[in-house]
Amino acid sequence: MSLFNTSRLVGKTVLITGASAGIGAATAVLFAKGGSNLILVARRIHPLKIVAEEAAAAYKASGLTEGGKIATIQLDVADKAQVASLLDKIPQDLRNVDVLVNNAGFAHGVDKVGSITDADIDAMFATNVVGLISITQLFVREFKARGAGHIINLGSVAGREAYPGGSIYCATKHAVRAFTEALRKELVDTKIRITEVQPGMVETEFSVIRFRGDKSAADKVYEGIQPLVAEDVAEEIVWAAARPPHVNIAELFVLPVNQASATLEYRGN
Ligand SMILES: NC(=O)c1ccc[n+]([C@@H]2O[C@H](COP(=O)([O-])OP(=O)(O)OC[C@H]3O[C@@H](n4cnc5c(N)ncnc54)[C@H](OP(=O)(O)O)[C@@H]3O)[C@@H](O)[C@H]2O)c1
Repeated sequence: MSLFNTSRLVGKTVLITGASAGIGAATAVLFAKGGSNLILVARRIHPLKIVAEEAAAAYKASGLTEGGKIATIQLDVADKAQVASLLDKIPQDLRNVDVLVNNAGFAHGVDKVGSITDADIDAMFATNVVGLISITQLFVREFKARGAGHIINLGSVAGREAYPGGSIYCATKHAVRAFTEALRKELVDTKIRITEVQPGMVETEFSVIRFRGDKSAADKVYEGIQPLVAEDVAEEIVWAAARPPHVNIAELFVLPVNQASATLEYRGN
């Protein structure tokens, strides 16, 4: 048996939030390559459609004949009414979701406590925590009814270790870690799998958004160090999903080789 046996992904249906960019987009393309069906969710429909086209091309190039159905859904995971309507928006032939990848998330700013705006606090919690929980609730009900399913949550090194200027983002990712762990314990008597992927530095739109569009400030984050790229994390996610059904990869803590923690990295390269 090959070490990276993706045949288990063929014909599976995977829903990915935050699929219009970065890790979510790379994950979509890799699942498509493995023959999965996709439901891609994000707020920006145009980039989402482009990712769907890339995923369709990857599926076509795979030569597989099963799977490869792709749907896009414009949705803000922070909007409870929109989340409540998510199941109704999924096309009938993709209604049986096998894998949920809760990837949508962001950091806004590097402000210290006392200077953080309510808008930033609310936005980060609404997406990274409440959105992830609301979507998980929908699918846990479905997975329990079917006795199967896999939930993969995007945590972060920031969910293991807090750092100055990241109090709110770190608090949201610590919340993701606690929620994921509690859920894994609650579901111990089921076949449902729960994975948390905790990347370190990944070069995506993440830092540009954190620095409110300041590209040069974002570029400084990766100066002198080779960060992960979205595809590195996508490989971890897809690998976890492709394990045999009795194997649950509980946590994947993935760092660039010159990063040792949220606050310790070597920039001599
Ligand atoms: N990059 C890193 O260094 C790093 C490290 C550890 C963990 N992570 C985590 O990995 C995940 C993906 O980040 P990334 O690096 O790929 O960032 P990214 O390139 O900025 O992508 C973020 C994705 O989330 C979507 N999104 C954001 N808010 C949303 C909302 N309210 N509703 C629906 N979709 C939403 C965005 O799409 P729209 O704008 O179109 O909605 C986009 O597709 C996040 O949870 C992040 O916290 C990133």
